[in-house]
Amino acid sequence: MDARPIGIFDSGVGGLTVASEVIKALPNESVVYFGDTARVPYGSKSVEIITKFSRQIVRFLLSKDVKVIVIACGTASSNSYTILAQEFDIPFIEITSPGVDDCAHVTRNKIVGVIGTEATIRSGLYETLLKNAIEGAQIYSKACPLFVPLAEEGWTQNTVTRLTAEIYLQELLDKEIDSLILGCTHYPLLLNCIRDIVGSVRIINAAESTARKLKQFLRENALENTGSPAKSHAFYVSDNTNKFNRICRLALRQEHEAIKVDIEKY
Ligand code: DGL
Repeated sequence: MDARPIGIFDSGVGGLTVASEVIKALPNESVVYFGDTARVPYGSKSVEIITKFSRQIVRFLLSKDVKVIVIACGTASSNSYTILAQEFDIPFIEITSPGVDDCAHVTRNKIVGVIGTEATIRSGLYETLLKNAIEGAQIYSKACPLFVPLAEEGWTQNTVTRLTAEIYLQELLDKEIDSLILGCTHYPLLLNCIRDIVGSVRIINAAESTARKLKQFLRENALENTGSPAKSHAFYVSDNTNKFNRICRLALRQEHEAIKVDIEKY
């Protein structure tokens, strides 16, 4: 039994899709969320910068006495997770392997699509993990950098988003993928739009997969809060709170006032 909160972080609002699944799956737990709104996007940055930013956020979350940290960012998960896990004495849950495990159960024809940020696709991690998990898999990866600003803007379903998604996804549909991993946590905010375009292709939402993995991890390590239910969640950002609060309302269906912190101090 451990009543300390769960730390969750992302470059911005994307990790709210993970926070939302975590809050649903683990109603007794409190969440401390950090969104790096001053420095989003991470997807176009180098491994060194993504890791530097992630380290600062981890130090901030440790100051909030969290019991586990969920790297709710595909970019930081695929580029910085192994470094963070070596440097810090706290368990981490990252988002790539839970999505790959779910995909291995779902695909029938073993032709799999992965979409993510430029840095995630460049890391090659999804391809390595998928090849290990699915014998003979054919993997087609595609960076979709415009999805992040569209999601940050709250443009979840409009014409611009639809056209952008059509252009990005047609190439994967032409390869006859039967499953598609959303390898960036911003993308579930565009889920309706993506679903309309890919039709019967099974979508693996890494946010759901990760929440399930976290639940299992807490249970196996006796870290669940088995006492009284969570009192509250806390949301922190490194810059503007307005947009964040708006997307937070959309993603969590709850009102939260984010608090701005100077992340450079950590
Ligand atoms: N939500 C993030 C991810 O899962 C990051 C997007 C970005 O900052 O470029 O990759």
